[in-house]
Amino acid sequence: MRSINMPLFALVLVLDGGAGLAANQPAPSRAPAALLSPTPPMGFNTWNKFGCDVSEQLIRETADAMAANGMRDAGYRYVVIDDCWQVSRDASGRIVADPQRFPGGMKALADYVHGKGLKFGLYTDLGTKTCEGRPGSLGHHDIDARTYAEWEIDYIKVDWCNADDLDAREHYTMFRDALRKTGRPIVLSICEWGRNRPWEWAGGVGQLWRTTSDIRDRWESVVWILNANEAHASAAAPGHWNDPDMLEVGNGGMTAEEYRSHFSMWAMMAAPLITGNDLRAMSAETRSILLNEEVIAVDQDSLGVQGRKVLDRGYGAQVWVKPLADGSRAVAVLNLSEKEADLYLRWSDIGLPPGAASVRDLWAHLDVPAHADNGKHFDERLKLKVPGHGVAMLRVKTLTPPR
Ligand code: GLA
Repeated sequence: MRSINMPLFALVLVLDGGAGLAANQPAPSRAPAALLSPTPPMGFNTWNKFGCDVSEQLIRETADAMAANGMRDAGYRYVVIDDCWQVSRDASGRIVADPQRFPGGMKALADYVHGKGLKFGLYTDLGTKTCEGRPGSLGHHDIDARTYAEWEIDYIKVDWCNADDLDAREHYTMFRDALRKTGRPIVLSICEWGRNRPWEWAGGVGQLWRTTSDIRDRWESVVWILNANEAHASAAAPGHWNDPDMLEVGNGGMTAEEYRSHFSMWAMMAAPLITGNDLRAMSAETRSILLNEEVIAVDQDSLGVQGRKVLDRGYGAQVWVKPLADGSRAVAVLNLSEKEADLYLRWSDIGLPPGAASVRDLWAHLDVPAHADNGKHFDERLKLKVPGHGVAMLRVKTLTPPR
């Protein structure tokens, strides 16, 4: 029973997402999209740290850093310039990049990023203007898509400021079609903050869709988004993902413990892992979080199921579970209280019979020994010391039942 329990659950989720799409979308629209992002996209975006202070120098240096510091090899691929790279349109309606900040032009910058073994992304908005008042794409879908394809971009984040009167599904679909006409595979990141219930329709349109308003570099923001994004878990599947917004790890507003929890829970939710800190100047601690390959592997697991909260003990202790392709489960035991606490993970909490599990601690990088107190009760539960606002992140393998 234990070996089929979770895979069946996972299968139902995947089929559920597929069935919803089939009812609402023409069948051919899913296939190319599914190929573009079979696991959640990973990369870097300028917004959280740099706002409008973007330049080709920043992008080149960031690409250099990602290639040199292990991030590219850990799976971070997309280097995305958010708002403020664009200043106007020329007489033919073509978008113009800021000549002061991007004197070499976007094509040369894309070439540079590609030369580092990375992919390149930009930002636009479906309305008249972007959130920062730069030219939006309304009335310019085709020319913008053609321009991006000529520049050889791989990813476009499409925002929703100054677009209130538009039908989101219709306009994002039009934008998708304009991208398709170019023949270049470009990831479409839908950013309308969950206002138009994208989890119900965006799976056949883009590869990721924001589910909430903007993240802030604060623990309260992480906790709020975590719960809001959980509600849409069944909409995520290989090729299309809920996007609880970009990472704040390393930006200074939270403790290292909180950043570890933030990163762990984004991985549990199969969220896009888009870093938003200065990758050229990371502390060893920030690096150890963003480069935790065992946690990244949970995010990138090929089963593509978004983890869910299975238990809320009411005093700040939560248990989250994400089924993985090899039949094991990623488990996060989250301590939302401010104080360190002894928390118990019972195998029954995650649907396992007694004596069933072998456990890997994904932050200590150790197999959890059945010692001391754990030894006595290991057949029933695991005792975990979890710091305030901290998390224990585990990979739990079920053992073959004794015959
Ligand atoms: C919106 C988006 C952010 C960022 C800014 C840029 O707020 O949600 O992620 O792109 O616009 O202006």
